[in-house]
Amino acid sequence: ADMARFIAALPKAEYHVHLEGTLEADMKFALAKRNGLDLPFADVAAMKASYIYHDLPSFLAIYYDGMKVLRTEQDFHDLAYAYLAKAASQNILYAEMFFDPQEHLKRGVPMAAVIGGITSARVAAAAQLGIGSQLILCFVRDLSAESAMAALEAALPFREHLVAVGLDSDEKDHPPIKFAAHFAKARAAGLKVTAHCDLNQKDILEHIRQAIVDIRVDRIDHGGNILESPELMAMAKARNLYFTVCPSFSGTVRGDKPPIDVVRGMLDAGLNVTINSDDPAYMGSEYLNEVLVKAQARSALTKAELVQLQRNAFNAGWMSETQRAACH
Ligand code: HPA
Ligand code: ZN
Repeated sequence: ADMARFIAALPKAEYHVHLEGTLEADMKFALAKRNGLDLPFADVAAMKASYIYHDLPSFLAIYYDGMKVLRTEQDFHDLAYAYLAKAASQNILYAEMFFDPQEHLKRGVPMAAVIGGITSARVAAAAQLGIGSQLILCFVRDLSAESAMAALEAALPFREHLVAVGLDSDEKDHPPIKFAAHFAKARAAGLKVTAHCDLNQKDILEHIRQAIVDIRVDRIDHGGNILESPELMAMAKARNLYFTVCPSFSGTVRGDKPPIDVVRGMLDAGLNVTINSDDPAYMGSEYLNEVLVKAQARSALTKAELVQLQRNAFNAGWMSETQRAACH
């Protein structure tokens, strides 16, 4: 209880949260109703009971199905505002949030509605709640390279509302270099670059190597398997790379290998770790405070280490000067 209070009171930042993964069951019902859509569940409890998965693909199937209720600019506004309000209530001062526009374009939702709704929510949350935020466009790696390029091109007119591009979804046989041209184009537009190197995926050390060496990412999402490679760890340290680790997601979703304590391992190895929530609506509605409470217990984190993790988090960010000043 003392640790929970300490964690709740810490000023925090978050860098690995998928907006579509914050779509709570009750909002799903509300949006379905507003948009005249039928959902195959009797109620919120039945919907939540269907959130059963054992690996990345089985998680993603539920996650992509759930986001189909997002149709209008107002829907995206409501989704982003709800996450930012929750984050602000947990003393998160700043957040960088992922979104998956290819999935929305597929359903015929214009990029302007997706980015417009999220952006108006960010502006409102900054003014009303004092929380700073930015937006990271993710390429859905198991869709085609052409689809990702079309999404990037559709997003570039809204460049000022984005801070970075990322890479998410099913990693198997979809290495970072599949998107080398996309990352180069994004970087030429002044965007930062990050990529998921999800825990225990096939060819994961080669994916981490590509991310660091070939793509020259500015950050790595997950990335815990780097502990198996002293050579890659040395490169990450030399480049002062930050890692956005999601211990609750990695702990619950990955059944293929025995779980390793990535947070403890990376801290002890001197890597720049941050702790994040990933997809809270699909993880028992546990947001960053709850994730940190569990991580503290699991990895025996001291108060000094919890403070260090948040210091890392504020250093990991791509905030504007104004946003950085507001974090002090
Ligand atoms: N990994 C890959 N794809 C995802 C994730 C994740 O953690 N969350 C939402 N899409
Ligand atoms: Zn993720």
